[in-house]
Amino acid sequence: MADKNKVAEQYYAPPPDLGKWEGFKIFLWNSETGQFLGRTGSSWAKILLFYLIFYLILVGFFAAMLTIFYQTLDSKMPKWQMDASLIGNNPGLGFRPMPDTDAAVESTLIYYKANDKGSVLKWATVIDDFLKQYQKKGSGSGEVPGAENRVPCSANSAALGEKQVCDVPIDDFHPCTPANQYNYEEAGPCVFLKLNKIFNWTPNPYNNTEDLPANMPDDLKQHIKLVSGKKEANTVWVSCEGENPADVENIGPVQYIPRRGFPSYYYPFTNKEGYLSPLVAVLFEKPRTGVLINIECKAWAKNIFYDRYERRGSVHFELMVDRS
Ligand SMILES: *[C@@H]1O[C@H](CO)[C@@H](O)[C@H](O)[C@H]1NC(C)=O
Repeated sequence: MADKNKVAEQYYAPPPDLGKWEGFKIFLWNSETGQFLGRTGSSWAKILLFYLIFYLILVGFFAAMLTIFYQTLDSKMPKWQMDASLIGNNPGLGFRPMPDTDAAVESTLIYYKANDKGSVLKWATVIDDFLKQYQKKGSGSGEVPGAENRVPCSANSAALGEKQVCDVPIDDFHPCTPANQYNYEEAGPCVFLKLNKIFNWTPNPYNNTEDLPANMPDDLKQHIKLVSGKKEANTVWVSCEGENPADVENIGPVQYIPRRGFPSYYYPFTNKEGYLSPLVAVLFEKPRTGVLINIECKAWAKNIFYDRYERRGSVHFELMVDRS
């Protein structure tokens, strides 16, 4: 009789039909079996112990791999340099102010209305932000880290100390100054050029009139003739021109401030604290208003290779100034 009962108990019996809330309460805490959330205390203890060990081993493995990886790196210099690196040894040019890439992806158009204060201020603010790193004082109190390493340099100055870097005096950019809102109001905007930093790259400058490339603009050739043989000639030269014949006509006179390129004494960049990329402010004195002008600026050195389509050694942007 007792045996028969046991067999009968093995048949599946539907669980008692409990209400939703009742069922949930039993799931939370089943007093009959001592189960909490479907597991007994020892079951919970085992599973927690398992995951504890599992994650400890995972963390340990990850940390060990990261440590081994960091052993191969130097925080001060890139592991792959110059030819061995992906960025290569051909520095590109950059320009500021960069148009807001959130608004229009890949836009390179500097467009504003010269007599609209808001429109002028928008671009002036972008340049202000960019030039902040060039100031000695941070926005708060105290100096920018590394600013104390910056010393005035010239073509004739002595070699730099181990920590020293050449200063880039932003007071030299008149009329491309913050107080003057970089001349945007005068309908003659300034655009700042910089050479992208490549660790340990040193320019091989065109410092005399021999073997100047045939495609070099004549005004730049003239300029090099004037300084040829002098120490000032050790410069990565820049030139900005209209891209198409119509642009050449519309661009108007161009000035390079404070000089026509990036002096060699700023190179090589070796990631010393406080290093600043030298800048050239390009002043477009009188661009034709109301038309879009395609502008291409190039950097010139014997070891900078130019390719318009790959944008190597050059930068392209458009300028459009409206009067009203
Ligand atoms: C011109 O540049 C070359 C290569 O960098 C350099 O060796 C030479 O001294 C420079 N000439 C002058 C006058 O500085």
